[in-house]
Amino acid sequence: MQIGVVGLGYLGLTHAVALSKLGHRVVGFESDLTRRNLIREGRAPFYEPGLDNALQQVHGSENFTVSSQLNLDEAMEIVFLCVGTPQSGAEESVDTSSLYSAGLEVARSIRPDTVVVGKSTVPVGTARLLRNRMSEAAGFSIHLAWNPEFLREGTALQDSLNPDRIVIGSWDAYSSQKLKEVYKPILERGTPLLEVDVPTAELVKVAANAFLATKISFINAMAEIAEVSGADAVELAKAIGYDERIGNKFLRNGIGFGGGCLPKDIRGFVARAEELGVGKAISFLRDVEAINQRRRARVVTLAEQELGELKNRKVLVLGLSFKPDSDDMRDSPALDIALRLAEAGARVTVHDPVALGALGKNHPALIREQDLGAAAKDQELVILGTEWTEYKAIEPKAFGDLVANKLIIDGRNVLDVTSWQAAGWRLIALGRNVHN
Ligand code: UDX
Repeated sequence: MQIGVVGLGYLGLTHAVALSKLGHRVVGFESDLTRRNLIREGRAPFYEPGLDNALQQVHGSENFTVSSQLNLDEAMEIVFLCVGTPQSGAEESVDTSSLYSAGLEVARSIRPDTVVVGKSTVPVGTARLLRNRMSEAAGFSIHLAWNPEFLREGTALQDSLNPDRIVIGSWDAYSSQKLKEVYKPILERGTPLLEVDVPTAELVKVAANAFLATKISFINAMAEIAEVSGADAVELAKAIGYDERIGNKFLRNGIGFGGGCLPKDIRGFVARAEELGVGKAISFLRDVEAINQRRRARVVTLAEQELGELKNRKVLVLGLSFKPDSDDMRDSPALDIALRLAEAGARVTVHDPVALGALGKNHPALIREQDLGAAAKDQELVILGTEWTEYKAIEPKAFGDLVANKLIIDGRNVLDVTSWQAAGWRLIALGRNVHN
């Protein structure tokens, strides 16, 4: 099929590459020149395992082209809207202005039988308004459907090509039919398909992310209890996770969730519910966020307790990205902790296998070090903030010879407590009673 994808960020680029791998002819529209140039060179503008490779395979073929202009081809059957919907500045609500402007531009250049599909995460009710405005601009009634995307950073392409489920929300059978054609190879493998109304499709994404955030904050709340009662939140998570109704996924306690989705989505969801007059229904999400923030503060408190005065103390933070296999530092707990410590006067060195480049010249107070050994030298406290594989593989004995003080806070509960302690480290693991 002839498909347009508007906005080549995380979501759009991955989706465009996935669609071309499924055999469609995809034109990606991106207004940012630097981003376009990188993509044309076969490079993703962000770190995502496997995406560069896949991009090089499809790039330059007739299945994948990049364009700056929304002058859509006459034959375009489907146009996906994948533009960003960030948090609106200091407000907690969602900024949908790019979505509306992209939608209106698309409306002015498509044929009546083109199906426009929203993929961006939006406050419930957005699609109806967008359809009205687009239809007005086009002079005919636009076929608009909503098709949320559940990809995770680090496994984005895999998630796009092998989704758990496909959700299609539409007002008309024609639009759903077209979308089912798009996903035919995936659906033929037996992937569950849910055809729902548009508001439900809009809600699925934020509801799923709110649930995931709640699960993480639940176990982090248990960690708070564990820390004052001598219990162990890691063992607790294992024990409750064997109950299939609870499940063991997304129950890793630590410094909490970050990224471009979970934090923003729960704030936007609360803001929208309040606008709809049902703020109370999900006011608990404010607690979910508060628990998440408290875990970051907890690490700073622990650092103070261990080191006394933080001023001029040498601290190494391992990891900056919000999760491994990503260079995304949006709302990153690890980066936030590094900044809080620097703010308190500590001399904070940061290391990350990939994110230092993306840090650029931001946050000059943080001392950058690309070499792990050099980063460790003379440190008085090490904090593991992102569970990159290379940190899990650190040999505690040799690493201990580099630092000034063998003291580590495991913010992700991934280090082998016994071997670190055997190598003479004082190890503090969040929510655990294993401290020596
Ligand atoms: C999330 C959703 O998982 C995905 O479905 C949606 O499409 C986009 O948002 P992503 O932002 O890539 O994906 O990250 P995710 O893997 O969900 O992790 C989010 C954060 O939670 C990370 O900071 C991670 O470290 C943290 N986390 C995750 C925990 O602290 N504990 C856990 O048990 C799991």
